[in-house]
Amino acid sequence: MDLHYYNLWSHDFMRIQMLSDLVNGKDAVSFASLEEALRRGIDQGLNCNYVVYDKSPDQNKLVGFRLTYAPGMWEPTKYHSPDKWKVDPIRVCRFNSVAVHPDYRLRGIGRQLMEKSIETAKQLGAKAGVTHVWMESPDNSAYEYWARLGGELVRIWPNKWAEEYKERKVICAADGENCACTGAEMILYFRETDPEAKVNYIPIKGGPIGPYKG
Ligand SMILES: CC(C)(COP(=O)(O)OP(=O)(O)OC[C@H]1O[C@@H](n2cnc3c(N)ncnc32)[C@H](O)[C@@H]1OP(=O)(O)O)[C@@H](O)C(=O)NCCC(=O)NCCS
Repeated sequence: MDLHYYNLWSHDFMRIQMLSDLVNGKDAVSFASLEEALRRGIDQGLNCNYVVYDKSPDQNKLVGFRLTYAPGMWEPTKYHSPDKWKVDPIRVCRFNSVAVHPDYRLRGIGRQLMEKSIETAKQLGAKAGVTHVWMESPDNSAYEYWARLGGELVRIWPNKWAEEYKERKVICAADGENCACTGAEMILYFRETDPEAKVNYIPIKGGPIGPYKG
């Protein structure tokens, strides 16, 4: 493995869509949503979106991506609860979509992608980041990942993607045409910048995370 991390750019779109089709379901990430990620993820010349490539001679392929809207570049939707967040919503970035290729999981790539997005979002004034965790992800990986990074559960949204996916005719990797997946709204509060700190968010303490029991 020879991993290289870069900011997202339009030349990555095709590869991201192929990886997302495999992981999240067909068309869950579209070119339109990637263009929106660029529009909302960049502020003051800083891009909060990241991709990672394996540049080994026998590979040279995109193996992960992290899409993140910059603080102040998006507005909470009906599936957000800003009244429950402990920081000003204008200081919250939105972690939109993340995927790591199945062959590359559990090697710290998802964590690295998150750290890079956080570092950039903090430079733009972010104090926290919010997401909707896909509760039906393979091996419960999304919830385990978010919980391990220190994310706090805000609220459960049943059928989070049903309306949007029906309209966009997305074939969900878990449910097919009639997606009924649950989104767990989770928030991650960031540390103040400390050059000595190994992590930029507040990591969870204690032992292994069990499966989510809603
Ligand atoms: C979620 C996902 C991005 C994690 O990527 P990854 O590169 O495997 O994550 P990392 O190796 O950086 O793991 C980060 C932490 O989460 C934990 N974790 C990740 N997946 C886990 C799993 N399936 N079970 C238990 N813990 C898990 C790791 O142990 C690690 O904790 P540690 O650093 O304290 O040991 C990846 O599993 C994925 O693409 N899943 C499918 C798509 C998806 O669910 N996206 C999220 C939608 S909300």
